[in-house]
Amino acid sequence: MRISQRAQRIEPFYVMEMAKSAAAIAREAAGTDRPMIYLNIGEPDFTAPPLVREAAERAIRDGRTQYTQATGLPALRERISDWYAQRFGVQVPARRIVVTAGASAALQLACLALIDAGDEVLMPDPSYPCNRQFVSAAEGRAVLVPSTAAERFQLSADKVAEAWGAHTRGVLLASPSNPTGTSIHPDELRRIHAAVTERGGITLVDEIYLGLSYEETYSHSALGLSDEIISINSFSKYFNMTGWRLGWLVVPDALVDVVEQIAQHLFICPSTVSQYAALACFEAESLAEYERRRAEFRARRDWFVPQLQALGLQVPVTPDGAFYAWTDCGAACDKLFAGRSEYNSGMQTAGSWEFAFELMKRAHLAVTPGRDFGHADTARYIRFSTANSMPQLEAAVARLREVLA
Ligand SMILES: Cc1ncc(COP(=O)(O)O)c(C=O)c1O
Repeated sequence: MRISQRAQRIEPFYVMEMAKSAAAIAREAAGTDRPMIYLNIGEPDFTAPPLVREAAERAIRDGRTQYTQATGLPALRERISDWYAQRFGVQVPARRIVVTAGASAALQLACLALIDAGDEVLMPDPSYPCNRQFVSAAEGRAVLVPSTAAERFQLSADKVAEAWGAHTRGVLLASPSNPTGTSIHPDELRRIHAAVTERGGITLVDEIYLGLSYEETYSHSALGLSDEIISINSFSKYFNMTGWRLGWLVVPDALVDVVEQIAQHLFICPSTVSQYAALACFEAESLAEYERRRAEFRARRDWFVPQLQALGLQVPVTPDGAFYAWTDCGAACDKLFAGRSEYNSGMQTAGSWEFAFELMKRAHLAVTPGRDFGHADTARYIRFSTANSMPQLEAAVARLREVLA
């Protein structure tokens, strides 16, 4: 069968290969005193709070399961708008909010609305792998710009200006970022947006982890900077609703009708039951629970990152949000693989991919190697997810200590 060029351009998702091996090892480890610990998973270990689950049950019981408007329930768009005002002090009118099937659909809609064949979109290296594929599916091309720890693994205005070319359409950033958990400083973002605007481009900011920010400096939505910035968000992370497939995007007024029309054709509407459930996310009781959980995520970060550093696993920039630790395992690899001829023959150098497999086999600890997130320096890095309980994180550190002793 002839596969489309478009499909062939989609890159492999290496972490899926890893997940298959992890599943096989987990089956063997299940009956032992060392079951697999998963620090590779990019989703909260919490489920939606009680009011949200009850609201979903009520919607099903009452038969409120028909299609909604393509842009989502008006009441939900209003609640999201209120949340921006209350939590972030930014006025985002409900008419500019389009509810979608997760941030994934929001990213697809934004790319389809704005990218033409051959357009290039600048992104930092490392960044969330699917973002490159959304651009690619819209017949554009993601251009990865290597970022450094000094830049918080984000783009800078200077780098944007330097990388801008004849086909550049704009930038796609994520703040806080997956895999680094680091955000762009608001002043830098302002400069980036100015550089982009000067060149007639578009600024897309994936703010899916914004609710999970831990530092005042970075707890601001890009929407406060300009009505022209396109922001992507989701109920998956802060609201703990990954499998409910619900997110949203905020677009400038001029784009609302365009995005609505594409959404009507491509998706009809986001899940109705999930939308009714999500209304309950904004009840005081649910918001209090989300804030308690945010404090828990922060406490895990505060404990886990110094533990990694003490083991010689450097986290060059302390994450200010999300639940990831982007960790340089170069020194650990040198130590671990020093005596192994297969890695020191001059033919092959062991990196984070081999390190991740070693941790999985010897410590029954699943982590994510850097490979999927970019090309520049990702063979040195692994991503730990702290979306797991404190006892599991403690057990993981004990196992890491044994492997690295
Ligand atoms: C940066 C980033 N953007 C988008 C997504 C997609 O999320 P959703 O579940 O809302 O589709 C993820 C999921 O991990 C992510 O990390």
